[in-house]
Amino acid sequence: VMACLTPKDLTDKKILVTAGPTREPIDPVRFISNPSSGKMGYAIARAAEYRGAEVTLIAGPVSLPDPLNINMVKVQTADQMADAVYENMEKADIIIKTAAVSDYRPRQAAPHKIKKGDENIIMELVKNQDILKTIGQRKTNQFLVGFAAETQDLRENALKKLEAKNLDIIAGNLVCRPGSGFGTDTNRISLFYRDGTLEVLEQMEKDTAAHIILDRVVERII
Ligand code: CTP
Ligand code: CA
Repeated sequence: VMACLTPKDLTDKKILVTAGPTREPIDPVRFISNPSSGKMGYAIARAAEYRGAEVTLIAGPVSLPDPLNINMVKVQTADQMADAVYENMEKADIIIKTAAVSDYRPRQAAPHKIKKGDENIIMELVKNQDILKTIGQRKTNQFLVGFAAETQDLRENALKKLEAKNLDIIAGNLVCRPGSGFGTDTNRISLFYRDGTLEVLEQMEKDTAAHIILDRVVERII
Protein backbone atom coordinates (compact mmCIF):
# COMPACT_ATOMS: atom_id res chain seq x y z
CA VAL A 1 0.00 0.00 0.00
CA MET A 2 2.74 2.34 1.03
CA ALA A 3 4.65 1.86 -2.23
CA CYS A 4 1.56 2.81 -4.28
CA LEU A 5 1.43 6.15 -2.53
CA THR A 6 5.12 6.78 -2.90
CA PRO A 7 5.93 9.58 -5.33
CA LYS A 8 8.81 9.44 -7.79
CA ASP A 9 10.72 11.71 -5.43
CA LEU A 10 14.15 10.30 -6.29
CA THR A 11 13.98 11.08 -10.01
CA ASP A 12 17.36 12.31 -11.29
CA LYS A 13 19.11 11.12 -8.10
CA LYS A 14 21.94 8.60 -8.27
CA ILE A 15 22.04 6.15 -5.39
CA LEU A 16 24.81 3.72 -4.50
CA VAL A 17 23.75 0.82 -2.27
CA THR A 18 25.88 -2.01 -0.88
CA ALA A 19 24.34 -5.24 0.33
CA GLY A 20 25.10 -8.70 1.62
CA PRO A 21 28.15 -10.21 3.27
CA THR A 22 31.68 -10.41 1.95
CA ARG A 23 33.67 -13.65 1.72
CA GLU A 24 37.32 -13.78 2.67
CA PRO A 25 38.98 -16.91 1.27
CA ILE A 26 40.87 -19.32 3.51
CA ASP A 27 41.59 -21.78 0.69
CA PRO A 28 39.80 -22.56 -2.61
CA VAL A 29 36.89 -24.25 -0.81
CA ARG A 30 36.53 -22.24 2.43
CA PHE A 31 35.97 -18.68 3.53
CA ILE A 32 35.20 -16.37 6.46
CA SER A 33 31.84 -14.64 6.24
CA ASN A 34 28.66 -13.82 8.18
CA PRO A 35 24.96 -14.66 7.86
CA SER A 36 23.91 -11.46 6.05
CA SER A 37 21.18 -12.30 3.51
CA GLY A 38 21.33 -9.03 1.57
CA LYS A 39 17.57 -8.54 2.05
CA MET A 40 17.77 -5.06 3.62
CA GLY A 41 20.13 -3.68 0.98
CA TYR A 42 18.20 -5.21 -1.91
CA ALA A 43 14.97 -3.77 -0.44
CA ILE A 44 16.55 -0.30 -0.38
CA ALA A 45 17.82 -0.69 -3.94
CA ARG A 46 14.39 -1.78 -5.23
CA ALA A 47 12.59 0.98 -3.30
CA ALA A 48 14.97 3.63 -4.67
CA GLU A 49 14.51 2.37 -8.22
CA TYR A 50 10.73 2.42 -7.74
CA ARG A 51 10.98 6.05 -6.64
CA GLY A 52 12.82 7.02 -9.80
CA ALA A 53 16.48 6.89 -8.74
CA GLU A 54 19.33 5.61 -10.88
CA VAL A 55 20.57 2.79 -8.66
CA THR A 56 23.92 1.00 -8.49
CA LEU A 57 23.88 -2.04 -6.22
CA ILE A 58 27.21 -3.48 -5.12
CA ALA A 59 26.47 -6.87 -3.63
CA GLY A 60 28.39 -9.64 -1.96
CA PRO A 61 27.30 -13.24 -2.49
CA VAL A 62 23.57 -13.57 -1.74
CA SER A 63 20.82 -15.79 -3.10
CA LEU A 64 18.40 -13.07 -4.18
CA PRO A 65 17.24 -12.32 -7.73
CA ASP A 66 18.87 -9.36 -9.50
CA PRO A 67 16.45 -6.43 -9.23
CA LEU A 68 15.28 -5.00 -12.56
CA ASN A 69 16.60 -1.69 -13.93
CA ILE A 70 19.52 -1.55 -11.51
CA ASN A 71 23.26 -1.51 -12.26
CA MET A 72 24.50 -4.62 -10.47
CA VAL A 73 28.11 -5.06 -9.42
CA LYS A 74 28.80 -8.44 -7.83
CA VAL A 75 31.79 -8.87 -5.56
CA GLN A 76 33.17 -11.46 -3.16
CA THR A 77 35.75 -9.90 -0.86
CA ALA A 78 35.86 -6.67 1.15
CA ASP A 79 38.71 -5.42 -1.04
CA GLN A 80 36.64 -6.01 -4.19
CA MET A 81 33.67 -4.23 -2.59
CA ALA A 82 35.94 -1.33 -1.65
CA ASP A 83 37.25 -0.98 -5.23
CA ALA A 84 33.72 -1.05 -6.66
CA VAL A 85 32.50 1.51 -4.11
CA TYR A 86 35.38 3.95 -4.67
CA GLU A 87 34.88 3.68 -8.44
CA ASN A 88 31.17 4.51 -8.16
CA MET A 89 30.95 6.92 -5.22
CA GLU A 90 31.91 10.13 -6.96
CA LYS A 91 28.86 10.25 -9.20
CA ALA A 92 26.44 9.26 -6.41
CA ASP A 93 24.15 11.75 -4.65
CA ILE A 94 23.25 9.26 -1.93
CA ILE A 95 25.26 6.32 -0.57
CA ILE A 96 23.62 3.69 1.63
CA LYS A 97 26.02 1.14 3.03
CA THR A 98 23.97 -1.84 4.17
CA ALA A 99 26.62 -4.50 3.51
CA ALA A 100 27.97 -6.62 6.37
CA VAL A 101 31.64 -6.33 5.51
CA SER A 102 33.99 -8.89 7.01
CA ASP A 103 36.25 -7.05 9.45
CA TYR A 104 39.19 -9.44 8.97
CA ARG A 105 40.59 -11.71 6.27
CA PRO A 106 43.13 -14.53 6.37
CA ARG A 107 46.58 -13.05 5.75
CA GLN A 108 47.03 -15.38 2.82
CA ALA A 109 44.58 -17.75 1.15
CA ALA A 110 46.13 -21.21 0.74
CA PRO A 111 46.50 -22.10 -2.96
CA HIS A 112 45.13 -25.61 -2.42
CA LYS A 113 42.57 -27.15 -0.11
CA ILE A 114 44.01 -27.33 3.39
CA LYS A 115 44.18 -30.96 4.52
CA LYS A 116 43.20 -31.86 8.06
CA GLY A 117 46.09 -32.97 10.23
CA ASP A 118 47.03 -31.32 13.50
CA GLU A 119 44.52 -31.15 16.36
CA ASN A 120 44.89 -27.37 16.53
CA ILE A 121 45.81 -24.92 13.83
CA ILE A 122 46.37 -21.19 13.99
CA MET A 123 45.21 -18.87 11.25
CA GLU A 124 46.45 -15.31 11.11
CA LEU A 125 43.85 -12.67 10.23
CA VAL A 126 44.50 -9.12 9.08
CA LYS A 127 42.09 -6.22 9.33
CA ASN A 128 40.14 -5.22 6.23
CA GLN A 129 39.87 -1.58 5.25
CA ASP A 130 36.82 0.25 6.63
CA ILE A 131 35.03 1.14 3.40
CA LEU A 132 32.40 3.34 5.01
CA LYS A 133 34.96 5.30 7.00
CA THR A 134 36.90 5.94 3.79
CA ILE A 135 33.74 7.14 2.02
CA GLY A 136 33.11 9.47 4.98
CA GLN A 137 36.61 10.92 4.58
CA ARG A 138 36.49 11.26 0.80
CA LYS A 139 32.91 12.38 0.29
CA THR A 140 32.09 15.77 -1.13
CA ASN A 141 28.34 16.34 -1.24
CA GLN A 142 27.06 12.79 -0.99
CA PHE A 143 24.40 12.04 1.63
CA LEU A 144 25.78 9.11 3.59
CA VAL A 145 23.79 6.42 5.43
CA GLY A 146 25.45 3.62 7.36
CA PHE A 147 24.20 0.63 9.29
CA ALA A 148 25.23 -0.70 12.68
CA ALA A 149 24.66 -4.31 13.62
CA GLU A 150 24.99 -4.67 17.37
CA THR A 151 24.28 -7.23 20.07
CA GLN A 152 24.36 -4.69 22.93
CA ASP A 153 24.59 -0.96 23.72
CA LEU A 154 22.93 0.02 20.43
CA ARG A 155 22.72 3.74 21.11
CA GLU A 156 26.29 4.16 22.31
CA ASN A 157 27.79 2.03 19.52
CA ALA A 158 25.66 3.56 16.76
CA LEU A 159 26.46 7.13 17.82
CA LYS A 160 30.17 6.32 17.88
CA LYS A 161 29.99 5.02 14.30
CA LEU A 162 27.88 7.99 13.14
CA GLU A 163 30.63 10.32 14.32
CA ALA A 164 33.71 8.25 13.42
CA LYS A 165 32.51 7.56 9.86
CA ASN A 166 31.13 11.06 9.17
CA LEU A 167 27.61 9.78 8.42
CA ASP A 168 24.36 11.72 8.02
CA ILE A 169 22.21 8.87 9.34
CA ILE A 170 23.01 5.53 10.93
CA ALA A 171 20.41 2.77 11.03
CA GLY A 172 21.08 0.56 14.02
CA ASN A 173 19.61 -2.76 14.95
CA LEU A 174 20.14 -5.38 17.60
CA VAL A 175 20.76 -8.46 15.51
CA CYS A 176 20.00 -10.94 18.28
CA ARG A 177 16.43 -9.79 18.90
CA PRO A 178 13.59 -11.73 17.28
CA GLY A 179 12.22 -10.13 14.10
CA SER A 180 15.45 -8.27 13.55
CA GLY A 181 18.73 -8.76 11.79
CA PHE A 182 20.32 -11.44 9.65
CA GLY A 183 18.14 -13.35 7.23
CA THR A 184 14.75 -12.20 8.50
CA ASP A 185 12.13 -10.47 6.31
CA THR A 186 11.47 -7.92 9.05
CA ASN A 187 13.68 -5.53 10.92
CA ARG A 188 13.59 -3.33 14.03
CA ILE A 189 15.62 -0.29 13.23
CA SER A 190 16.55 2.80 15.18
CA LEU A 191 17.60 5.81 13.12
CA PHE A 192 20.23 8.09 14.66
CA TYR A 193 20.57 11.47 12.99
CA ARG A 194 23.46 13.88 12.78
CA ASP A 195 21.58 16.49 14.81
CA GLY A 196 21.42 14.09 17.76
CA THR A 197 17.81 13.00 17.36
CA LEU A 198 16.75 9.38 17.47
CA GLU A 199 13.79 7.70 15.76
CA VAL A 200 12.82 4.21 16.89
CA LEU A 201 10.92 2.29 14.22
CA GLU A 202 8.65 -0.57 15.18
CA GLN A 203 9.19 -4.06 13.77
CA MET A 204 8.25 -3.99 10.08
CA GLU A 205 8.95 -5.59 6.70
CA LYS A 206 12.38 -4.69 5.33
CA ASP A 207 10.60 -3.31 2.22
CA THR A 208 8.67 -0.86 4.41
CA ALA A 209 11.76 0.05 6.43
CA ALA A 210 13.56 0.73 3.14
CA HIS A 211 10.90 3.26 2.11
CA ILE A 212 11.02 4.98 5.50
CA ILE A 213 14.81 5.31 5.33
CA LEU A 214 14.46 6.83 1.84
CA ASP A 215 11.71 9.18 3.14
CA ARG A 216 14.15 10.46 5.77
CA VAL A 217 16.92 10.90 3.21
CA VAL A 218 14.61 12.81 0.84
CA GLU A 219 13.47 15.12 3.66
CA ARG A 220 17.09 16.04 4.26
CA ILE A 221 18.41 16.51 0.74
CA ILE A 222 15.55 18.37 -0.96
N1 CTP B 1 31.71 -1.23 7.15
C1 CTP B 1 32.52 -1.01 6.05
N2 CTP B 1 33.74 -1.62 5.96
C2 CTP B 1 34.17 -2.44 6.94
C3 CTP B 1 33.34 -2.68 8.07
C4 CTP B 1 32.11 -2.07 8.15
O1 CTP B 1 32.13 -0.26 5.15
N3 CTP B 1 35.36 -3.02 6.82
C5 CTP B 1 30.41 -0.53 7.23
C6 CTP B 1 29.19 -1.42 7.15
O2 CTP B 1 28.76 -1.55 5.80
C7 CTP B 1 28.17 -0.68 7.99
C8 CTP B 1 29.01 0.08 9.00
O3 CTP B 1 30.34 0.11 8.47
O4 CTP B 1 27.45 0.27 7.22
C9 CTP B 1 29.03 -0.50 10.38
O5 CTP B 1 29.42 -1.85 10.34
P1 CTP B 1 29.59 -2.62 11.71
O6 CTP B 1 30.13 -3.98 11.45
O7 CTP B 1 28.34 -2.47 12.52
O8 CTP B 1 30.69 -1.70 12.46
P2 CTP B 1 32.27 -1.72 12.45
O9 CTP B 1 32.70 -0.31 12.18
O10 CTP B 1 32.82 -2.78 11.57
O11 CTP B 1 32.62 -2.02 13.97
P3 CTP B 1 32.40 -3.37 14.83
O12 CTP B 1 32.14 -4.50 13.86
O13 CTP B 1 33.66 -3.51 15.60
O14 CTP B 1 31.19 -3.11 15.70
CA1 CA C 1 32.14 -4.96 11.64
